[in-house]
Amino acid sequence: MASPGEDPSATVQPFTDDRLGRCLQPFMLSQAQLETVRDLMLDNMERGLRNDYQNPSSIKMLPTFVRSTLNGKERGEFIALDLGGTNFRVLYVRVSSTEKGGLEKKSKTFTLPQNVIQGTGEELFDHIVDCISDFQIANSLQGKKLPLGFTFSFPCSQTSLDQGTLITWTKGFSASGCVGEDVVRLLREATIRKGNSDLLVIALVNDTVGTMMSCGYDDPACEIGLIVGTGTNACYMEEMRNVEQVDGDEGRMCVNMEWGAFGDCGCLEEIITFIDQDVDEFSVNPGRQRYEKMISGMYLGEIVRQILIDLTYNGLFGGNISQRLQTRDIFLTEYLSLFESDTLDQVQVRSILTELGLRSTCEDAVLVKEVCRTVSQRAAQLCAAGIAAVVEKIRENRGLDHLKVTVGVDGTLYKLHPHFAGVVHRTVRMLAPLCDVTFRRTDDGSGMGAALITAVACRIAGAEPQAA
Ligand code: BGC
Repeated sequence: MASPGEDPSATVQPFTDDRLGRCLQPFMLSQAQLETVRDLMLDNMERGLRNDYQNPSSIKMLPTFVRSTLNGKERGEFIALDLGGTNFRVLYVRVSSTEKGGLEKKSKTFTLPQNVIQGTGEELFDHIVDCISDFQIANSLQGKKLPLGFTFSFPCSQTSLDQGTLITWTKGFSASGCVGEDVVRLLREATIRKGNSDLLVIALVNDTVGTMMSCGYDDPACEIGLIVGTGTNACYMEEMRNVEQVDGDEGRMCVNMEWGAFGDCGCLEEIITFIDQDVDEFSVNPGRQRYEKMISGMYLGEIVRQILIDLTYNGLFGGNISQRLQTRDIFLTEYLSLFESDTLDQVQVRSILTELGLRSTCEDAVLVKEVCRTVSQRAAQLCAAGIAAVVEKIRENRGLDHLKVTVGVDGTLYKLHPHFAGVVHRTVRMLAPLCDVTFRRTDDGSGMGAALITAVACRIAGAEPQAA
């Protein structure tokens, strides 16, 4: 196989299926490999929970201080913020009795310019407060001091519900002065700088936790939250006796696994390809989030682009690599969803390829679809191996022969890709045959969940609910 960097004209020959197979082979995982990934994940979960200093786990298994779920008595008006992907959302949520309408929400999405997510922490948090103030004005909420739930979808080490130290940025964020700081404090300081005194930060929530909670509003069997979007991660209800980082043995606590970092200690070397290595090296956080970089939307398009270049050296597109295809991140993950859609025909695939400067034949278009299918299938199977480990852990914790559980899911890749969800479901059935797992998609799960967690916290604290 020719490698990137070699002179393509020296290697061009008519393209054959056999060469496609050889290029894609490293991305095809056997059942045995997936079982190994599941077992390694389980082992890392256990070591992460134990806080094993001698043999540290690559996943942090962070306590979230979310113990109680909804009991239906929550009432009030809340603000929720959702920061962690390509956009920033502000929500107003009113929780009332079912007779009075249950949940009601208004929300607005704001874009987050690159210079803001990669500038200074002050700029980032000032921008967030500006967006909240706009939203309050547009919805006549000024002067109402509303409890606020902050969905902040990055690894945070929490010692209480309303405090969390940012461990590291992920997903292309790199605002300075935030790592090692309490992000709730950074938000409060920005509200003071900006003179917005209408916000009462009650809860800091990871998006997986918000998703689990909002799914639990409709389905009490939901004890797992999963995100597959720009990034990926999962949380689940763990027995307190196993959460060594928090005192007490009674009941359960939701644990934010931060599974994107799985493999950062080197345990996935067997399945990591030279293309995964390259994607990692050129990312803003090399060496980190290795599992996430094989699964989530931020990276799949780039993996496909690199395989296409590799294939071009082997004769695809007549051996001609377009200038555009040589640009990093030019192949969007949305294209995977598009190319794999059963309704998109050859002509449409070829017209997108033309936009990328690639003159393709019908055969080329078929091959590109096959590359996309292989990359998204590997992502879905790896994600399923993680979920299989989680459901097995819950089943073993409870000493059950058989577990029935629901996973609340959010994230664009899972929701928009035509086959991703199906592959996840089938693979979980294969890797966790003693568990009956239902997947429920939530809309706006992370933001709504933050409002619900805040509502629960207010109920428990006996806070005076706003009239609703
Ligand atoms: C973050 C997680 C988050 C996930 C999904 C990861 O990069 O570290 O905290 O839950 O993305 O948004």
